[in-house]
Amino acid sequence: MNRPTPVSPPAMDADTDAEVAIDLEGLLRRLHLPTIRRLLPEYATLAAQEGWSHRDFLARLIAEEVANRNNTRIQKSARRARFPSLKTIEDFDFTYQTSLKRQALGPFLDPDFVAQGRNLILLGPSGTGKTHLCCAIAYRAIQHGHHARFVRACDLIDDLASASKDGRLREATATYLEPPVLIIDEVGYLHHADTAANVLYGLVDARHQQRRPILFTTNKPPTVWGDVLHDHQLAEAILDRVLERGSLIELRGRSYRTKHHRGATTDG
Ligand SMILES: Nc1ncnc2c1ncn2[C@@H]1O[C@H](COP(=O)(O)OP(=O)(O)OP(=O)(O)O)[C@@H](O)[C@H]1O
Ligand SMILES: [Mg+2]
Repeated sequence: MNRPTPVSPPAMDADTDAEVAIDLEGLLRRLHLPTIRRLLPEYATLAAQEGWSHRDFLARLIAEEVANRNNTRIQKSARRARFPSLKTIEDFDFTYQTSLKRQALGPFLDPDFVAQGRNLILLGPSGTGKTHLCCAIAYRAIQHGHHARFVRACDLIDDLASASKDGRLREATATYLEPPVLIIDEVGYLHHADTAANVLYGLVDARHQQRRPILFTTNKPPTVWGDVLHDHQLAEAILDRVLERGSLIELRGRSYRTKHHRGATTDG
């Protein structure tokens, strides 16, 4: 078997150490390995003190570089998603929101969620955790290596409706077609434009064809989406596509926002 040829350090004086002659810092910078560069002195000391093997030393440094790179990617992707605030599934108190079992969200938190093209409609009154859960699902997808995008239904519809007027609907739709996970928040909260169903149908149909998940939050049951979107047939076509590979989950109970107010809610 051929032995690999060691990299020879540049010519040096007899009393110069080879470690000094190779510009390791420079090489790590050139290879874009900032974490290894930062940790090298500390890990070299630890390795000597604790007697790590060469393989162990190298493996630990590379593992740190990979972990750091992954964290940076997650942070960047979460910023790009434009979540109103960063929420995770671990932050969600299922003992407060008892109308939903964590297991019911299992398929949406799974690494295969994006590949399976699952959709979700979270329906319920204010403060029951709809936006929190959608953001947490999308954040988990980001941790699994995907991108996501959050948009309020009124902003999305306004954007698409004005693009449609200017003959730019295709480009505007492409913006919302591109992210592997799209959250459309607050369907039916504000009065939507008359063309809401038309522009939303185009986006939902395109994402459906590409099996790209959409997570909706709404306080209006699907039976009235026809009124909300001003077109019963198109609303039905939208829901048909969404629910083909999707679930409707209804959240009940009191608002988490006002949980400290005893008797502050109208239902008791
Ligand atoms: N079960 C819960 N555990 C922890 N935090 C919760 C829970 N439910 C809601 N929250 C928190 O309460 C606040 C309101 O929740 P969220 O925005 O998800 O409500 P929502 O159902 O989207 O309400 P709205 O319909 O008014 O938009 C958020 O800060 C959210 O993190
Ligand atoms: Mg909300």
